[in-house]
Amino acid sequence: MLKPDVRGFFDPATATWTYVVWAEGAADKKCAVIDSVLDYDMASGRASTASTDKVIYFIRSKGLQVEWILETHIHADHLTASRYLREKLGGKTAISRHILDVLKTWQPVFHNEDDTPLDGSQFDYLFKDDEVFSIGALEARIIHAPGHTPADTAYIIGDAAFVGDAMFLPDVGTGRCDFPGGSAANSYDSTRKLLDLPEDYRMYVGHDYPPDDARAPLCMATIAEQKSANILAGAAASREAFIKKRTESDKNKSVPALLLPSLQVNLRAGAFGRETGGVQYIKIPLNVV
Ligand SMILES: [Fe+2]
Repeated sequence: MLKPDVRGFFDPATATWTYVVWAEGAADKKCAVIDSVLDYDMASGRASTASTDKVIYFIRSKGLQVEWILETHIHADHLTASRYLREKLGGKTAISRHILDVLKTWQPVFHNEDDTPLDGSQFDYLFKDDEVFSIGALEARIIHAPGHTPADTAYIIGDAAFVGDAMFLPDVGTGRCDFPGGSAANSYDSTRKLLDLPEDYRMYVGHDYPPDDARAPLCMATIAEQKSANILAGAAASREAFIKKRTESDKNKSVPALLLPSLQVNLRAGAFGRETGGVQYIKIPLNVV
């Protein structure tokens, strides 16, 4: 099996990992970008591409060609830079077809259907569960891993699993399940699917929140390490115990600072909305969320 090379880029403002995935040994120079970040300042409503420009610089300096721009889910804590990346480097934007459920959930909140199609056509491609695809010579497949949101997807590329927020590093646990359509029970079932991967596979997480200052943000643990040490979802965790702990920990969690702009932009596959008088707007629904 061809094993991918992986470069992670950490965004300290949102604790997000963006990944570039390619195979140094392959002649084709194709790569995928997973979970990119568009910097956004809520107070001023100003977006910046500084974080993604570092990713673009890396891709260009390696002479790589972007084939896929992938999202593990509709993020609620950062804006995707997928549209900007596609403009700069090409490639196809893609996400799980379960995005259609997420679009349906948020339509009554934002009423943005004039520029946010409910059929998901703003993405270049929607993956089916268990779909197999390729990134140049690299073999890849999809595992539907709902729980954090209904549309979470893990991308298994060679021996590397990019799991978004379905699991975090062993000392952090798993992603919250209190968003609309989230489910602690589904999350547990998804962690079992991921832990069923071979023990030497590398699991790359979507965020890292180090429990204390003693450890720097990290991005990877092996399946064996996750099985033996994940504080919430290790191999020994029972379904009941996981659901109880996950639900308790999600009680009274604050709304992510960038929830409203993130959802609107991410549901449009990285585009800001239709212009009014040459200006684009983020809607703030009052007393809904
Ligand atoms: Fe998330």
